[in-house]
Order: sequence, then structure tokens, then C-alpha cells
Amino acid sequence: MNVDLTVNLSSLKMRNPLMLASGVLGNTGAILRRVAEAGAGAVVTKSIGVKPKKGYLNPTIVEVDCGFINAMGLPNPGVSEFIEELKIAKKSGVPVIASVFGSTEKEYAEVAYRMEEAGADAIELNLSCPHAGGLIQFSQDPKRTFDVVRAVKSAVKIPVFAKLTAEVTSIVEIGKAAERAGVDGVTAINTLRGMVIDIEVARPILSNKFGGLSGRAIKPIAIRCVYELYRELSIPIIGVGGILDFRDVVEFMMAGASAVQIGSAIAIKDLNIFREITVDLKRFMEEKGYKCLKDIIGLAHEEG
Ligand SMILES: Cc1cc2nc3c(=O)[nH]c(=O)nc-3n(C[C@H](O)[C@H](O)[C@H](O)COP(=O)(O)O)c2cc1C
Repeated sequence: MNVDLTVNLSSLKMRNPLMLASGVLGNTGAILRRVAEAGAGAVVTKSIGVKPKKGYLNPTIVEVDCGFINAMGLPNPGVSEFIEELKIAKKSGVPVIASVFGSTEKEYAEVAYRMEEAGADAIELNLSCPHAGGLIQFSQDPKRTFDVVRAVKSAVKIPVFAKLTAEVTSIVEIGKAAERAGVDGVTAINTLRGMVIDIEVARPILSNKFGGLSGRAIKPIAIRCVYELYRELSIPIIGVGGILDFRDVVEFMMAGASAVQIGSAIAIKDLNIFREITVDLKRFMEEKGYKCLKDIIGLAHEEG
């Protein structure tokens, strides 16, 4: 049997549902190309803002049980410099999604517009970085989410995805605000605020004290968010958080994700993870008699 792993995500055509998550290896065009060559269906850049930003002092990342906590502080070269990297990434042939952040709606719109001009295939709005000093968590407020999405949608023609945080009373309320503003899809979830203390020196380990928890530890929360969003929204959902193997991908898709992103696992398994998951996913679908990903997406919602 021939299994079809292709995905149409808004206007993006992906050869498989696996994307590189933002911030993990996405800071140069050459690395983004390597990830595409390793088998990713699409790549997302590191989050880019209007101006260059240094980020926090080391240590910026620490391994914990079942994951990592990072507080990089959104280091990036600024959009003017990054567009050269984007052009290199575009040569990979897979969709390149530009992750953008800003401190106002106008900044988001400006960076998104310039990324589109440079050839980005879609925009992912980082509305939810849990440790970017001074940046508001836009996705904790439905009105601000609506306003950013509206501003960016009026600035660009390419699809716009909104990346949400789980650190809200209702992720569905935020997802609905983004949908009302015309967003083309939502990405769930970003990292969750955490902290680690070194008991020998009695001080927090990260220079920023707090950071964002990623990896296995957050997977059940991410699955719950995707499931809740799928029940209430009519736009595609991109699932992210703790994916390590094909079983995790199937779980996210059964919860309602049309595509998924992989971040922390690359540090554990390296870039082979994309090929490994593609092969395993195909085999699983063949064994179960699923012909295409539509046969799996949202399957856990069926009654009986
Ligand atoms: C080192 C590191 C840097 C990250 N930087 C960004 C970023 O710039 N923008 C963003 O939207 N998410 C960023 N994230 C969050 C990831 O894209 C992803 O949402 C999160 O790590 C959960 O997925 P995972 O468990 O597969 O890593 C970062 C995560 C890590 C571990």
C-alpha cells in the first residue's frame, strides 16, 4: 500500500508533516538548509525582531528531568541582516516559515512584511515567549492577540500562524481571538515558565533566573491544548512540545494537529530524527491501514 504523508497547511505544500520548531537551529540559512536536507517537511526560523538583540548572558540553557529550560532572551541579528539568511534557507526547496516577534503590533507587522518581501512562505507570530524581558506575552490577552494578528494580516499576503502559550486560563479563548482576526492556523505550544536552583551555591542556574521548559515534560500539556483547540476552531493546528518519535506525532495528529514541530529532541537524537520519524510513521500507517494523514487527524475526537 502506498501511504501519502503530504500535508497542505493553508497554502503551504509539505512533503511530510514534520517541521523544525522555532529557535532550535534556525538562526542561519545554512543550518536551515541542513535541516531541510535531513528530511524536514518545512523549517521555522529563530524568532526575529526589528533590531538586533544580544540575548542573555550564559548560562542560557540547562537540562532537567525530561527536558530543558532555556532563557536565551531572543538573541537575533534583526530583520535587515536576517533576510540574507532567509534567502539562503529558501534554496532548500521546502517551505520556510519566518518566526517574528515585536513589542508592538506595528513592529510585528513591519518584520512580517520584510520577511514576506525576502521570500518567506509563511509567518509564525511568536506571541508567547515566556522569558523575553519586557516583552508582553501577547497570547495571554485575547484583545492583544486579535490586534497583532489583524495588523500582520493586513501587512502580508502569505499565511500567518499564531504561536500560543498554554499559560492561560483558556487557550481556546485566545485561539478564537486569533481566528476572528483572520489567522490561518495556530501553533501550540511554546515553552512553559520554569526555574532551576543550584543547591550547592543556593542560586538560580540561569542568568535570567526563569526560563522556558521544553521537551518530554510538556508533551501531555501540549496534547491537551491541541485537543481543546481542535474542538473549537476551524483552522489548522500545528502541534509542538516534547515530540521524540513517531508515536508522539500520531498522538498529536489524533488530538487534531495537521502538522507538528520538533525542537528539543534534536539535541537528544540529532537531525536524523526527521528521517527516522518519517520511515516509522509510514510503517505505522501501512500496518493500520491509514492511507493519508487526514485519516488520523482528529481521530481521538470520534465517539464510541
Ligand atoms: C533553545 C530553545 C530556543 C527556543 N527559541 C524559540 C524562539 O526563538 N521562538 C519561539 O517561538 N519558540 C522558541 N522555542 C520554543 C520551541 O519552538 C518549542 O515551542 C518548544 O521548545 C516546545 O517544543 P519541544 O519540546 O519539541 O522543544 C525555543 C526552544 C528552545 C529549546
